[in-house]
Amino acid sequence: EKGGFKHFMLKEIYEQPKTITDTISGFFSDLNNPVYNEIKNIQNIVIIACGTSYHAGLVGKFWIEKFVKIPTIVDYASEFRYRDFPVNEKTLIIAISQSGETADTRFSAIDARKKSAKVLSIVNVVGSSLSRESDFVIYTYCGPEIGVAATKTFTAQLITLLLFSLKAGLERGNLTQEEFEKYYNDIIHLPHLVNEVLKQDKAIEEISYKYHNVKDFLFLGRGLNYPIALEGALKLKEISYIHAEGYPAGEMKHGPIALIDENLPVVCIVPKDSLYEKMISNIQEVKARKGIVISVSDSQDSHLLSLSDNIIKIPSVENENLYPIVSVIPLQLLTYHIATILGKDVDQPRNLAKTVTVE
Ligand code: F6R
Repeated sequence: EKGGFKHFMLKEIYEQPKTITDTISGFFSDLNNPVYNEIKNIQNIVIIACGTSYHAGLVGKFWIEKFVKIPTIVDYASEFRYRDFPVNEKTLIIAISQSGETADTRFSAIDARKKSAKVLSIVNVVGSSLSRESDFVIYTYCGPEIGVAATKTFTAQLITLLLFSLKAGLERGNLTQEEFEKYYNDIIHLPHLVNEVLKQDKAIEEISYKYHNVKDFLFLGRGLNYPIALEGALKLKEISYIHAEGYPAGEMKHGPIALIDENLPVVCIVPKDSLYEKMISNIQEVKARKGIVISVSDSQDSHLLSLSDNIIKIPSVENENLYPIVSVIPLQLLTYHIATILGKDVDQPRNLAKTVTVE
């Protein structure tokens, strides 16, 4: 049932061109979702989730602010629940959960609804508790995810949040139909682009052999790709038990820079987007302290090449909003290979449950 793959995690990483395609089609079969009517009344948005789903929410916030233009915050469900965050009937809670059974996410949504907020859930499991407890549901179409580490459901959550933001932006008059279609035409190339990244698998495995024995890793990104740095670090901790931290690159000099020495690999997500030059300055800071630079990039610039000890190539995208979906794939593969080289049980890492139904 692993379809020829050694582990479910690897199978699920490789399924992404298909799950992305299915999630895009699923989204378009649901354009009459009543949430797009409701969005016209909404004044603030709160995204709540845990773990990897929380990271999807952090990326989603960028798209919502850009296209929907409604002030948005993102919080861990386990924190949101115990705060007195003011909500009313003009608040939209977006609860993101693969399983739809995570206790903190569910109960945050239920409590906010009692205070008259509206709840939209983004879930993978049809008929799950959260989907039944929400005013609106948008599904991701990934089929079951068996590996404990979330992979294909993360990219599907991202696609869903991007499409939701575009459609909601259209409904609120921030985007024309033409602009919406232009984005759509870029988005439908994603399965192909993800396939291109999967072709880097061997190269990524070789890099994994060089660094599987280190004690710590740092992941850096900016803007839309900063949550991807957090996600890379989470994946590595979960399945390889190597300590890792993800940081917005600009925060590095406010503390984590003290960690950098010649033994520390720093994974830098540095796509050719509007923050490229800012990332380059941060990479220079890493290099000046002899850190090991692993760049994930579509850039061919000699400057970046000379600063990087290793480069993992990603394809360029037409629209920089799509970079997070492309740049997370190499991190999934990198962490998978490091964990398997170390002989860890990637599908069932110690101490972890696929679904956390306890509070
Ligand atoms: C990470 C992972 C967990 C889940 C988290 C939320 O790989 O799998 O961090 O993302 O427990 O689970 P859901 O999305 O089911 O609410």
